[in-house]
Amino acid sequence: MDNSLKIKKIAVFTSGGDSPGMNAAIRSVVRTSAYHNIECVGIYRGYEGLMEGDFVSLTARNVKGIINKGGTILKTARSEEFRTKEGREKAYKNLKEANIDAFVVIGGDGSFTGAMIFNQEFNFPVMGIPGTIDNDIFGTSHTLGFDTALNTVVDAIDKIRDTASSHNRLFFIEVMGRDVGHIALNVGIAGGAEEILIPEEDLGLDRLVESLNKSRKSGKSSSIVVVAEGDKIGKNIFELKDYVDENMDGYDVRVSVLGHMQRGGAPSCFDRVLASRMGVKAVESLLEGQTNYMVGLLNNKIKLTPLENAIKGKSKINLELLRVSDIMST
Ligand code: F6P
Repeated sequence: MDNSLKIKKIAVFTSGGDSPGMNAAIRSVVRTSAYHNIECVGIYRGYEGLMEGDFVSLTARNVKGIINKGGTILKTARSEEFRTKEGREKAYKNLKEANIDAFVVIGGDGSFTGAMIFNQEFNFPVMGIPGTIDNDIFGTSHTLGFDTALNTVVDAIDKIRDTASSHNRLFFIEVMGRDVGHIALNVGIAGGAEEILIPEEDLGLDRLVESLNKSRKSGKSSSIVVVAEGDKIGKNIFELKDYVDENMDGYDVRVSVLGHMQRGGAPSCFDRVLASRMGVKAVESLLEGQTNYMVGLLNNKIKLTPLENAIKGKSKINLELLRVSDIMST
């Protein structure tokens, strides 16, 4: 079927965890639709609102003043019901009743899985835009919100370092990243961390203590260890602190869990530009008859990756960064 002939109305929604840049992407989808004389509808609370028919008409003017705002004006949710066939049937009925011909979902891999299954079941045109601070999606070097989160976290680490060096303390700082260490690895280097613990690499407790002892002997009086929340060292960050307290002398050890402050705030320039580019590509690809893809940034070009690959592929950490981090902590 040639989707391009029948697309006159496109829906857009955000799904899963919010991330800075989602609003900029909504704005881009709405304005690109207006540019091509296509109607645009916003759906509140992701798949939840899709199943409830919680829709709002969006014109180019309705999305003014949001490019610089964190969070998502359309709200977001993680939906259990959309995992069921009944839930997806409700969603399809609502889309048909509203004469919506395609949707753009801004979210992570769980949101893309829902879109892909929906496309397979109802042959409904869908397009994904990767929005998550974790950067854990295959098919794009950057997800929306990743760059902003890095800057937010580096700012927080710089501030914690003031206390660390004033009191000669060792700080364990936990950053987000459920399954991947992209945030930890980048902010660890940028924030001058002594060690970076990420899910992709199990440093082991002995080596951690050994490394901290070595840096202590080399004359360092304070240290920062960045820990990704999904780290596999086998202890949570508070247990880590206790372990180091018991097995090392000379450091006053503290823990700081940064939490959801990493997901908020105004998007960086990079995320705003990326969101604008991705929104244009998402709408124009649907109009060209493409479906079941995610738009992503690859070698600074906006490219399409099949949703299935985006979901199943692994977003790999940059091994060169690991080595750089080792050398920098000398
Ligand atoms: O996926 C983004 C993320 O921020 C993860 O890093 C974190 O583990 C998770 O979301 C937290 O989710 P919630 O806000 O639902 O607790």
